[in-house]
Parts: sequence; structure tokens; C-alpha cells
Amino acid sequence: MNINNKNIPITITIDGKVCKSTFGKTILTIARENGIYIPTMCYLTKVKPIASCRMCIVDVEGVEGAILSCQERATDGAVITTQNASLHKERQNIMKLYNVNHPLECGVCDQSGECDLQNKTLEFGVSQQPFTTRDQHRPVENWGHVSYDSALCIMCEKCVRVSTEITGDEALELKFGGYSSTIINNKKEKNYASLGEAASVCPVGALVDSSFKYSANAWELEKIPTACTHCGAGCSMSYEVKGDSIYRVSNPYEFSSLCGAGRYGFDYANNGVTKDKKAFDEAVEAFKSAGSIIFAPQITNEEALILQKIKEKYNTKLISHEARAYQKFTQAYSHITGKSLPKGDLKSIANSKGVIILGTRINDDNPMVKYHINMASKWNRARVVYMHPIEDIEIKNIVTQFIKYEVGSEEGVTALLVDTLLKDIDIPVGVRAFLDDLDIGNLSAESNVGEEELEDLAHSLDKKSDFSLVVGSDLYSHPQSQNIARLLALLEREAHFNVVCVPPLGNGMGVSLICELDDEIEGSSVGYNAKADFTLSALGEGDLDMPSLVQQEGTVTTLEARVVTINAGVSYGGYELNDIANALGIVSDETIDYTDSLPIEGGFKSESFDDLPDYFDTKGEEHRGYLLNSIKTSVHTAFDEISEIDAFDGAVVYNYNPKEQFSAFTNLCKPISQEPFLLGSPQFSIVTKLSDGDTIRFEIDGIEFERVFKIDSSMKGTIALNPTYDMGLSTPLVSSYRFSRLKFEKMNNKKVGNNNG
Ligand code: SF4
Ligand code: SF4
Ligand code: FES
Repeated sequence: MNINNKNIPITITIDGKVCKSTFGKTILTIARENGIYIPTMCYLTKVKPIASCRMCIVDVEGVEGAILSCQERATDGAVITTQNASLHKERQNIMKLYNVNHPLECGVCDQSGECDLQNKTLEFGVSQQPFTTRDQHRPVENWGHVSYDSALCIMCEKCVRVSTEITGDEALELKFGGYSSTIINNKKEKNYASLGEAASVCPVGALVDSSFKYSANAWELEKIPTACTHCGAGCSMSYEVKGDSIYRVSNPYEFSSLCGAGRYGFDYANNGVTKDKKAFDEAVEAFKSAGSIIFAPQITNEEALILQKIKEKYNTKLISHEARAYQKFTQAYSHITGKSLPKGDLKSIANSKGVIILGTRINDDNPMVKYHINMASKWNRARVVYMHPIEDIEIKNIVTQFIKYEVGSEEGVTALLVDTLLKDIDIPVGVRAFLDDLDIGNLSAESNVGEEELEDLAHSLDKKSDFSLVVGSDLYSHPQSQNIARLLALLEREAHFNVVCVPPLGNGMGVSLICELDDEIEGSSVGYNAKADFTLSALGEGDLDMPSLVQQEGTVTTLEARVVTINAGVSYGGYELNDIANALGIVSDETIDYTDSLPIEGGFKSESFDDLPDYFDTKGEEHRGYLLNSIKTSVHTAFDEISEIDAFDGAVVYNYNPKEQFSAFTNLCKPISQEPFLLGSPQFSIVTKLSDGDTIRFEIDGIEFERVFKIDSSMKGTIALNPTYDMGLSTPLVSSYRFSRLKFEKMNNKKVGNNNG
């Protein structure tokens, strides 16, 4: 199909209604856009049409036989009928077949009250099961996060498509065999939490969350719309609440998705807190005398604004290391593009024909970005180039080229990449001169990225269009991060790449746009979810308790520069940051009163909390909060010379967090809890003389880590993976480059405490 046809207007008539649309859309899509109902059983908007149920049949004038509206693209002038006696009869027969041997156990089925089969059985007046087959023994399978009851499965394939096209775990498969057909999980040992997304789309009670099973009825739960705050994707979801507890999380699964952390990482409320007046008064005094406020980016935009106001009033330094690194990176970036925000978005990643990932372990750092890269791979057969010092077997199925570079050489690698990708593009003379001056041989030798690898990369993107570049925290924390940012920004400015700079976890993007952050801690310190002389903590381990984000109203800013609302799923009885601000003379009734005064110069709009929408419309358009304005900035096209790299010989550790873990908050959530091992290859074990199970102690940025070493035979090289999510209030104090040389003390036979605190 010629891509330009997409904008050609067409007019069709559905059930007598004239519907205007554009070429390329299916009849079902146009019907839905126009509020016309066509029943479906296997249709899921966010994947390609499955076309397995036939419920969506319609008659098209001049066409013999009913056609599948979910699959058939509408042609200009088509006249379509969606409801008549013969269509009804055929749909009714389909429902009868669906009900063959489907146990009539709605009373005890988890899906009851929200089951598509139940609803459509009633809608089509199927009151009996006229057909039967010999029933088969189909035991329920427990797959860990989800369980599967084959007896309830209607083989719609939605779960399989989600596992393949969206999350990319590729765990589920359809095993054909007539009435013995079943869904199989061929990666049971992995216990992928991403299968929660597959369960969420199951129209019946066949694939369900194991933790929710038999805990509550759907109609007893109140849905509270919110956004996930673990990583910067800010995915749309709802807490489903009974009493003062969250029973589960659901999402608008037709149009958007959640990763395992969003779906299962909700149980981190700071419960049972009451107002501790003494601690509150001490907190107020601590703020008045503090030289610095150190904070983790798991705060709302409004709280970030309160901290900024405290800074302005008391001349306090604001320290949030990861957000600061991101702020400096994006500011440098904007000096090349002339806009305050990188323009990247998730949909453009999914539509890309080529994606380059640089400086981020993306599957762990941001699952939603990885899902969209997976979509590009599955839908467009996109080339996916993964550039990193450590290979990641979890994304091997979508990566078409892995380019391994030396630790520390990110600036040189960036220069090589930019030079390669801009080779045949007309660019300003000064930029061309800078690139021509690069000592390619030397950069290639230092980074260990061969010129032929870059040629392969360029060749693989040749004759393609629609490219994305995804970059992350390895680059922000690099000593030359600003030069890296300026070079990469050329790919947006000169080669029109969709560039996504994955923000640090939590609300790192909002914080970086609202707060004037500082580099160095000065004087006595107050910490907000960070260890300091006086500590406010939603983890319940500080001097004054604070509400966690599951107990707050406010907004956060997503990596797509969208300001979205969060709501409280659990109540909170203690003091909040706004109470402290009031005592400091920064007066406001509620924290959310600050929503309409978020800084215009940061791109925020003067919109109040209660006016912000939170829904997807029938076309799948997102109406959540608002998109930030990208502000015009001055352009200085200048680059530093590429620095010599400091060789990272010997054993190195890489600070990261494994999938589903982001912070001390996800670490509190039992369904996704995991042991924080230091993971290294057999080669790492030889270099360090560490055996599997050895306990070692080492320091990074003055923070002491105690880790049990585990050999991961799927890994190669001499870099080990060091998680930080279990470090409690110390995690936000890690400020350096993500890689560090490992100097350790073996602790075997010594008593080992935990890292928290
Ligand atoms: S488990 Fe659910 S989603 Fe998967 S095929 Fe069966 S009915 Fe469809
Ligand atoms: S952790 Fe990130 S990707 Fe996962 S649901 Fe939450 S916001 Fe979305
Ligand atoms: S919705 Fe079209 S075949 Fe199922």
C-alpha cells in the first residue's frame, strides 16, 4: 500500500449513516469512530486483526457473502449493513458454538460481571447449549503471575497476540487440535510478569491474575483512575479498590498497556501513619536551617514545585542526582534543536522501520519503550540496533544488530554513530567540518566499534525511513553527557529521527522541568525519600512519615511530555509536604492547588487539576492531561572535541535495576519481589575469583553495597549487573556514571546485614 494513500478521504455509509474517514481504515474502525456498534469477540484494538471469531461480519452492498469488518478496509462509496436477521442468526450460532462445553460456573468465575462471553450470550439470547462434545480433563495451570484454565478458553488468541506483538515476551502460543486446542506457555520457567498484560485482555476467565483470583468480585471494586509512577512512561491505569485496599490494577487495555511493575507493583502505601506533631515541628525547623534538600524523583509535579518554592524562599540547594543529570543532558540537547523538549514519542517508535538504542538497558530501564520497539519489530520488521557494553538476552528476539562498545566510550561511540548516519545528508558546513575532523580510526579503536559494524548499520537502514533513537541514563551520567547530547540532537535536527530520551525513574522529567537543581550538597540536609540529616520518608524509615505516591493526588510528567493525573488509591493520615510548606509560609490549601501554577517556562499550562481529562476516546486518541509546550530556545551549534577515554580494565559493575524493579517502592511489592544478586558471567567469576554464592562488600559514591554474587551463564564479559532498588533511602544518593570499577572485600563467613537504610 502506498503510504501516502493514508490521507485520502473516503465516504462510506454504515446502517444509513454517512461516515467520513480516510483510506486504509477497516470498516470496524470507521464504525467505532462513528459510534456504530458491531459485536466482536476476538478484536483487540492495539494488535493487528486476529480474525478468528467471525462475530464482526457485515454485509457490503454488491459483495457476495458476509465479510469480516475487523479485517476489511473500507473503500470509498461502500454501503454497509451491520445488523439484519441473517447476520444476527450467524452471530447467534457463533455464540452457541462458543458455549459448547464452556462450564456454567459463572458464579465462581473471576471474570463474572466483566465477561465478554457472558455478556454476548445474553445479548444474542443464547439460553441453552444445543451442541456438546465429549468433555476433556483440562486441569488449571498455574504459571506464576497468571493462571490458565483451558476449559474456559475460547481460543480468541488475544493473549497470544499481546505476548507476541506488544510485550514481546513471546511466551504464549496457540496449540491447535480441534476441541483439544489450547494455549501453551513455552517460557513457564521465566514467570514473566508481562503475562499480566495478556491476562488483562482475556475476554473470559481463562487467563487470570493468580494473585487476584477468588479475592473479590468485579462489581464490588471501585475504579480510581491514575497513572503508574514507577518509570517515566506514566502508563494509564486504575486502582481497583475495596475498603481501603487496592485489590488489583486494571488499564484501558484496548489502547494502552502496562508492564509487570505497573500491574503488580501497587502495594507500597505507607500505612497506619498518624499526625506526629513533634516530628513535624522538627521537620519544619530542619527545612528552615537546611543547606540542601536531597530528594528522589518519585514525587509529583506539585511537590517538585513546592520544593522549588522552598529553595527560592530559603536559598536551599535542591539535589536530585538523576534528575539533574537528565536536566543537563536535555538542556544541552535543546541548544542544538532550538526546542526545550526532545520530540520523541512512543507511537513513532512503534511506527519506525529502524530503531537504534544507545546507552540504556532498555528492557529493564523502561518496559514501555521496549514494548514499542517490539511493536516496530513485529509490525514493520524494523531493524533494531542495540548499542551497549553488555548484551541483553531478553531482547535478543528483536535486536537485529548488537554493537558492543567499551565502557566509558559513549562519547566516541556517539560521534561515530552521528558521523555514520549523517554521511549522505546535507548538513551545515560547520557540523560537516567537525565530523570530518573526527579521528575515526582512533575512536573506533578506543570504543572497539569496528568501521564495518557501522557500515552494516548504515546499510541496514538504507532505503528505509521513519527512524527512532532511544537513549538513556548511561549517557546522562557520563562525564561528557552534554557533548553527547549535542551530537545526538543532530539526528533529530538534521536526520529527523524520533528521539526518545528515557527519563530517570519516577517523575524525573517533571522534576527536571520544574526545579532549578544543583550539583553539590551544601550544609545540613533534609531528605525526601533520600537519606539525609533529617529524613522525610514514604518508606516509613525516616524522621517524619510522608505519603507514598499511591496515597497522593497530583500530576506527573511522562516521557512523551504529557502531564497526567494521579489519584490516591489508599488513604493517608499523616502530614504531607504541603503541610510543611504552609508552616514555612508557602501557603496553599491543597497540594493540587499548585497544578495550575506549574512553570509556563517549563512548558506547563495553566490548567487546574480538576479540569484535566483522563480517558481514551473510541478512536483510541489519548485524552490524558495535556502535552507540554515545547519552548523555543537559543541555538548554539558547537561541540567539544571527543575526550580520551579512561580505560575500564578488569572487573566492572553496572548499576541497573532488573525488570519490574525500579526503586525502594517496587521493592516493597511482594508479587514482584526478587533477590538483589550481583549477576556476572563465568568470565567475570574467573577475573574476580568469585564463586557463585560468595558475598562481597563494595562502595559506590560512598554507599556500601553487600551482595551475593551469582553466575549467570547467559552473560559474557567482565561487567556484572548491580541492582540498586533494594538500597532504600540510599538509592537516590548514587550519583555517578552507571559503570564503576569493582574493588571489593569478600564477606564469606562474616555476618552480613541488609542494605536498607
Ligand atoms: S486465554 Fe483468554 S485471551 Fe487467551 S485465547 Fe483463551 S480466551 Fe482468548
Ligand atoms: S513501570 Fe513504567 S512501563 Fe511499567 S506500567 Fe509503570 S509506567 Fe508503565
Ligand atoms: S472481530 Fe473480526 S473476526 Fe473476530
